Amino acid sequence: MIMVIPEKLPVHVTFIMDGNGRWAKQRGQDRLKGHFEGVESVRAITEASVELGIKFISFFAFSEENWNRSEAEVSGLMSLMLRAMKNELPLFLDNGIRFRVIGNRERLGADVNEGIDTLEGLTAGGSRMTLIIFMSYSGKWDISQAARRMAAAGSDRIEDFLATAGVPDPDLMIRTSGEQRISNYMLWQLAYTEFVFTDTLWPDFRKQEYLAALEEYASRDRRFGKVK
Ligand code: FPP
Repeated sequence: MIMVIPEKLPVHVTFIMDGNGRWAKQRGQDRLKGHFEGVESVRAITEASVELGIKFISFFAFSEENWNRSEAEVSGLMSLMLRAMKNELPLFLDNGIRFRVIGNRERLGADVNEGIDTLEGLTAGGSRMTLIIFMSYSGKWDISQAARRMAAAGSDRIEDFLATAGVPDPDLMIRTSGEQRISNYMLWQLAYTEFVFTDTLWPDFRKQEYLAALEEYASRDRRFGKVK
């Protein structure tokens, strides 16, 4: 049995959910079926995280670069995310989960923006865990918009202007499907994050493997550039 020592739990775990398309292709199915199954993994990880007492989890659901995918895949993903936001409301309310979206909201459609506002409003009182979906997000976009606003405000504290202001930097980043890259995700915030890479495709990434990744994290020696 895998045991995770509470003191060695990360505060913020973030996921690059990769491999949905390949998962579907292996089964001769449409890519969207992979994303559909990927939402099941998001739910499984959310439930496990609440049980463990993790305070922040976040998922890279749609990058700025993903806008370049086919029209069918983009609109399919948007309606899938919209549906998931509606379906998961009871899970969030029952478990004290606060839902947030971070990204370039200007590029999202009116229906998706409305769905986000509604869910963020209804879950604003959730205090057990915060779940963040990064949507239409890229690290370079975030640093650019922060730099612009920081200059306008005459400040030199970039953290205050990043889209993630107030969210602790991730302690652990898990990327599935064998890719070992940051892919323009939180470029500033991942400075001292521990990385765990797994070959498992996102739709197959569930609780047991999550616990194994947390155990791996607990064994890491984090020095933040200092000598211990
Ligand atoms: C990467 O796999 C996955 C995505 C680009 C989308 C992930 C989004 C979800 C699972 C929706 C979750 C949303 C909510 C609101 C819970 P890929 O398509 O790049 O896979 P491939 O590399 O095998 O082609």
